[in-house]
Amino acid sequence: VRLLDLFCKAGGASMGYHRVGFEVVGVDIEPQPRYPFEFHQADAMEFGLSGFDAIHASPPCQRHSKMTKRHGRSAEHPDLVGPTRDRLIGAGVPYIIENVPGAPLVDPLVLCGSTFELDVRRHRLFETSFHVLQPKCRHAEQGPAVGVYGNPGGSSKRDGLTFGGVDTWKTAMGIDWMTAKELAQAIPPLYTHWIGEYLVAHLKGDL
Ligand SMILES: C[S@@+](CC[C@H](N)C(=O)[O-])C[C@H]1O[C@@H](n2cnc3c(N)ncnc32)[C@H](O)[C@@H]1O
Repeated sequence: VRLLDLFCKAGGASMGYHRVGFEVVGVDIEPQPRYPFEFHQADAMEFGLSGFDAIHASPPCQRHSKMTKRHGRSAEHPDLVGPTRDRLIGAGVPYIIENVPGAPLVDPLVLCGSTFELDVRRHRLFETSFHVLQPKCRHAEQGPAVGVYGNPGGSSKRDGLTFGGVDTWKTAMGIDWMTAKELAQAIPPLYTHWIGEYLVAHLKGDL
C-alpha cells in the first residue's frame, strides 16, 4: 500500500507510516539528503497525486506558529493549508493534514509526546478524512519536557523548558537520523504510527 508524504522534510511523519507497513514516497521542494525513503524534489502543489492509496501533508506552518504571530509577520508566509486540502480532496483517497496549534484545520485531533511516553510535548494538530481516536495527554506522568526548537543547548523561561543537546533531542523525539534543524521541524514518528494504524483499518474497511 502506497502513501505519499507531501512537504516531507527529513521524514519524521514518513517513518511512522513506514512502521505500520506503508510504502512511503516523499516530496519536498528542498533537497533532503537524509530522507530515508523514495524521494522527489518537487513543488507539493504541482506533484502528481495519482497512484497512491493515501496522502499525508505537512504544509509549512510558519504562518500559524506562535513565533511568527508574536513578531507580527504572518502575512509574509503563504497559507498553503486551504489549497492543500483542496488538492487532497480532489485526489479522492484518505488524507491527513498535519499542522501546529492555531492552524485552520477542520475538526483536528491533537497529539502530544506525553501520550507516547516521549520527553517532548510538541502538540500537533491532525485533520483526517477517516476516524482516529483522540488519546489523552499524560503531562503529569511525563515530568519535565524537553523543548525541540530554536537551538540545542538553550532553554525557554517562557515555556519552562530546557532544551538539552542534539542527542537529548533525538531521544525525546524517537528519531535518530536527523540534524538539529531537521528535528526542530519534525513530528515524532509515533504520532503518525498512531494515525497509520487507523488508516490501515480504514483502508481494510474495518473502521
Ligand atoms: C515542517 S516541514 C515538514 C516536517 C515533516 N513532516 C517531518 O515530520 O519531518 C515542512 C517542509 O515543507 C517544505 N516545503 C515548503 N513549501 C513547499 C512546497 N511548495 N512544496 C514542497 N515542499 C515544500 C519545506 O522545505 C519543509 O521541508
